[in-house]
Amino acid sequence: MKRLLTGIKPTGDLTIGNYIGAILPLIKRQEEYDDIFLFVADLHAITIYQDPEELKEKIKTFIGLYLACGVDPNKVTIYIQSENEYIPAISWLLECNTYYGEASRMIQFKEKSKENTNFTIGLLTYPILMAADILYCDSEYVPVGIDQKQHVEIARDIAIRFNSKYGETFKLPNPIIEKSGTKIKDLKDPSKKMSKSSISPNGVISLFDTYETVTKKIMGATTDNDMLVKYDEENKPGISNLLNIASVMSGKTTEELENEFKESNYGVFKKYVAEITASKIEEINKKYLELSKENIITDILDKGARKSRELAKEKYEEMKKKMGLFYER
Ligand code: AMP
Ligand code: TRP
Repeated sequence: MKRLLTGIKPTGDLTIGNYIGAILPLIKRQEEYDDIFLFVADLHAITIYQDPEELKEKIKTFIGLYLACGVDPNKVTIYIQSENEYIPAISWLLECNTYYGEASRMIQFKEKSKENTNFTIGLLTYPILMAADILYCDSEYVPVGIDQKQHVEIARDIAIRFNSKYGETFKLPNPIIEKSGTKIKDLKDPSKKMSKSSISPNGVISLFDTYETVTKKIMGATTDNDMLVKYDEENKPGISNLLNIASVMSGKTTEELENEFKESNYGVFKKYVAEITASKIEEINKKYLELSKENIITDILDKGARKSRELAKEKYEEMKKKMGLFYER
């Protein structure tokens, strides 16, 4: 069975950039793969201090939003990383098969340890915990952003080393790099990516914004002066960004939209983009509220944790045995 697995760190507020760039591609994959694992990488979030109350809330909202956006729990196994205690245990066994040199050469470690010299050991062992996430369940396909590609590669190296020292134990993972698909830009400064850590509140649409707020932000989006609804990323970044958003939200191509609005002024076009985007977000929020009223999420997480723990326990026992960590009775 070919398993695809991905983890998301519960930090920041999900934006329509995340929805378009990460959540929708995952939803599309539901149809292509028959086995998908999606987990909240809360243990990875704490390499940098997280306010406990905020972290708890984030874990909850991330899961709720993914489900509200259309991730199908019948097709995808959803769990919280820290609910599987075998993962850190496996991570330790892998740490003892990873060299300090290779871990300290990871780009993310080098950059983050430079930013703040008072970093934790967790920042160094971060990719090994990630290797445990991937290897315990023999995931062969791991979609990640380009910045995480090196971490999937080190997981593969560790797996090869373990297999050759102790015998065939792990399947080898392959990173799937998200193609540089549509990048949604900041509405106020379309030269920048719309980012959950942005300081431009009117340029970023959160998945929790109200209908009115979304409308206001889109109506106030920066455009240009030539009054032509035309896709041209270089000369018309604002309009091109709105065309991209409208295309995802409506299911129409940007050419179809250009055609539809070729006689219209920007006000009419923006009103259209605002309406379909605000309705979509309102729909997600309604679903989110419904989900949080029922016990569905708890059931989904219980089921996910059970499945993930069973697989991890099996792999942990196998690893221990192969390494001589057992007492024959
Ligand atoms: P981040 O929010 O930067 O941690 O990214 C989480 C995921 O969302 C990654 O897969 C990103 O590629 C995707 N993502 C974040 N912001 C955008 C954006 N403005 N446009 C498209 N994809 C995005
Ligand atoms: N480190 C990843 C990120 O920052 C999240 C993550 C943790 C992950 N474990 C993983 C992604 C395993 C893929 C597979 O985005």
